[in-house]
Amino acid sequence: MEATKETSANAGSAAETTVKLRVRRFDPAHDPAPVMREYEVPYTRGQSVLSLLGYIAEHVDPTLAFPLCLCRIGACNQCAMKVNGKSMLTCNRIVNPGETITVEPSSERQFIRDVV
Ligand code: FES
Repeated sequence: MEATKETSANAGSAAETTVKLRVRRFDPAHDPAPVMREYEVPYTRGQSVLSLLGYIAEHVDPTLAFPLCLCRIGACNQCAMKVNGKSMLTCNRIVNPGETITVEPSSERQFIRDVV
């Protein structure tokens, strides 16, 4: 699996002020194989993995597909993904400054593309 890196223009260089997200990207209609793409984004206290994916889609890479989840309180189960290899609700997974997080699609849902 090839790895690529994209960095937010607003991201600081100090590890404690950013979070690295490694996101599995794959569109079966266009890509020959999945790739892990790395994004470094600014850390904000209380930020969840789901909100980081939203930040990336809005500010860094609008081609990232991720579930549009509305509740953000662990009630709808629409944001379930694998985070560092474990299935969980990404709206409930709060990130820490300097952390590197790997995000992959849930194996319990029908795969569409990227982490959806
Ligand atoms: S957004 Fe509804 S459970 Fe996470």
